Amino acid sequence: EQSNPQTFALQGKNVLVTAGPTVEKVDAVRYFTNRSSGKMGYALAEAARNLGANVILVSGETSLSQPSGVEFIQISSAEEMFQAVKERMDDMDMIIKAAAVADYTPVKTVNNKMKKQDGNLELTFKRTTDILKYLGEHKDKQYLVGFAAETDNVETYAMGKLKKKNADVIVANHVANQEIGFRSSDNEVEMFFANGDRVPLAKESKQKIAFKILNEITSRWED
Ligand code: CTP
Ligand code: CA
Repeated sequence: EQSNPQTFALQGKNVLVTAGPTVEKVDAVRYFTNRSSGKMGYALAEAARNLGANVILVSGETSLSQPSGVEFIQISSAEEMFQAVKERMDDMDMIIKAAAVADYTPVKTVNNKMKKQDGNLELTFKRTTDILKYLGEHKDKQYLVGFAAETDNVETYAMGKLKKKNADVIVANHVANQEIGFRSSDNEVEMFFANGDRVPLAKESKQKIAFKILNEITSRWED
């Protein structure tokens, strides 16, 4: 038996993490995507695993290697991510939406390579499903963790997303500073909890931030 119960704060819990960008195909060689290295989501999946959870990692295309000891599901588009999450949500105790999901996908996908034409190209995009919002509308026991990368008005937007998506916590980061977030190995975030708690986490490696995020969450479960 471990002397430190925090080490196994997620023992036996089922945790699903989404990570990385989604890729929305335009034609055979072109796509529309979001900036995301996947590092924060992968760090969260590994931290949850180390805390004793059974982890499912639903990942978009990243250059990271598959973490050991987690169930890995590779997806490409927002729609594929939605289906993968929806199918598994009932069994989950916690769902962490660290993925940068494309908000729009082309109305029409061309299978061949489109040839260039004179003049401008106009593409029409439609909205994707807001996966976190769907989860918020259909959850029972699942603890929902959302992310918000903002360039401005971080507090207002993060609190808005918390409410609109019925999440339990939103982890917000300020992306105006290119050193932080995206491809960086460090992150600096602020957690906005549904009960009104606000927890800033100072700049540190994404691994350490991941542990702190999970500790802030699980310590509130024990109350
Ligand atoms: N999210 C999602 N499905 C989408 C879009 C976003 O599940 N189709 C999730 C993200 O994974 C993240 C949270 O919602 O956990 C917030 O994403 P974000 O892009 O910051 O917010 P949006 O609601 O998409 O609003 P906007 O991009 O306009 O800021
Ligand atoms: Ca978005």
